[in-house]
Amino acid sequence: MTRARVAVLISGRGSNMAALIEAARADKKFPAEIALVVSNRTDAAGLATARAAGIATAVIDHEKFPGREAFEQAVHARLEAERIALVCLAGFMRKLTPWLVQRWDGRMINIHPSLLPAFKGLDTHARALQAGVRIHGASVHFVTADLDAGPIIAQAAVPVLDRDTEDTLAARVLAAEHEIYPLALKLLAEGRVRLVDGRCVVDGAIAADGLLIAPQAG
Ligand code: GRF
Repeated sequence: MTRARVAVLISGRGSNMAALIEAARADKKFPAEIALVVSNRTDAAGLATARAAGIATAVIDHEKFPGREAFEQAVHARLEAERIALVCLAGFMRKLTPWLVQRWDGRMINIHPSLLPAFKGLDTHARALQAGVRIHGASVHFVTADLDAGPIIAQAAVPVLDRDTEDTLAARVLAAEHEIYPLALKLLAEGRVRLVDGRCVVDGAIAADGLLIAPQAG
């Protein structure tokens, strides 16, 4: 079986990256391998995790480039040099320009800590608490030029409890993220995700494909 070569782009902790690495390793039939981890920050904690797992890493420091596009050209060149087929953004804190997004159209996905299209952008957990929603969660979506707006591949929902703080809610959502990101990558790498009228359709899906509800409460 040929596995799709995947690059994970990170800026920090890298727990979603670690979940992808683990999922790809744990399942002999997983259709993708994490071949490269790229960080735009030298101090990203996830770099050590990736190295410890024996994964090739690259630091491409955006501050060393004159502008976004020059930075993106360096990232793109590295991805091509490593024969990367799919890109997973995982806590990658750089807005991408249409230049890079177009080159990876349909092959670049992101995880966002909310049930999109609610709470795009930052501070999603604080905003969910403030809004008083009873259900919150995470989404994996294709990356498009509009931030957090691409077609949704998979979502996970978790309850919001009255006693929740931003931290407890973030932890519950993060656990769900770690379930849903490998699931979405698997569906994509298996070639089961199709776009129909700008929305994702999962071939051969059973109802639960692409949706996880409350993997843990409390
Ligand atoms: C996650 O909550 C992810 O959804 C968001 O940034 C956070 C990254 O966490 N985009 P980690 O680096 O994967 O631990």
